[in-house]
Amino acid sequence: MTIKTATLNGVATIEIARPEKKNAITGAMYTQLAAAFDAAREDDAVRAVLITGQPGIFTSGNDIDDFVKRPASLEEAPSFAFMKALMGCDKPVVAAVTGAAIGIGTTMLLHCDFVYVADEARLAMPFVSLGLVPEFGSSLIVPQLMGNARAAEKLLLGDPFSGADAVEFGIANAVLPASEVVKHARRVAERFNTLPPGAVRETKRLLRRHRAEALLETIRIEGQAFGARLQTPEAKEAFSAFFEKRKPDFSRF
Ligand code: COA
Repeated sequence: MTIKTATLNGVATIEIARPEKKNAITGAMYTQLAAAFDAAREDDAVRAVLITGQPGIFTSGNDIDDFVKRPASLEEAPSFAFMKALMGCDKPVVAAVTGAAIGIGTTMLLHCDFVYVADEARLAMPFVSLGLVPEFGSSLIVPQLMGNARAAEKLLLGDPFSGADAVEFGIANAVLPASEVVKHARRVAERFNTLPPGAVRETKRLLRRHRAEALLETIRIEGQAFGARLQTPEAKEAFSAFFEKRKPDFSRF
């Protein structure tokens, strides 16, 4: 099982568990993640959702092997169902980032309400080095959060950044020792057991309302560009290089 779920004391925990592939997310896993978020939303016993990975790895992002199998239309892509379910979750979502968070591993954090990061965690959005473009609204949210200059470093150059940087940029709430991250995130999630769920839900909606439309439009436009980029020789060279464990050669493009 690559996505584990369990509900305990008002908290639905969703765990990405494919450590042998550094928690890379396949189409089937996106479908399971979407179902887990939808189930948490529907379950009256759930007051908050906790998403986490494995010790030392949150997720290495989209399974690169799966990129070639992705449908041309964004709406049919399992990753889209996941994005919709996460954004549509009207309960607080707390992320416990236990290690590296790459690609969608970082961009999904932009849609969580609370993010706690292990002190050795590294975050990165290396879409360009894979011949791709930003996704999950990151081309809108990242410049809003950190300004255009830093957004260019993270999205054009794909520079990795630390948990402390993520706190400074407003992506994460706090950096903690690795062994404390999940425990602390769970304590925060459990605080919602004592708060009125209707007021929490409405406040979450109000906090997100002002950019909801722009976000959906951005995700749609990013999705079209991303789908088109997957077919390019640049992306094919990047994927081959990853599996052949060599540096990609973009000199001929
Ligand atoms: N998709 C598919 N397979 C992946 C993967 C991904 N995103 N990330 C890691 N793997 C696989 C590797 O191919 C390797 O498989 P193998 O054992 O069959 O050769 C295994 O997971 C272990 O990965 P490895 O790279 O050896 O681990 P590492 O500890 O040296 O590095 C990462 C970990 C996360 C830094 C590195 O795997 C990485 O950069 N992954 C790709 C991240 C990425 O570009 N994601 C897409 C963003 S859009």
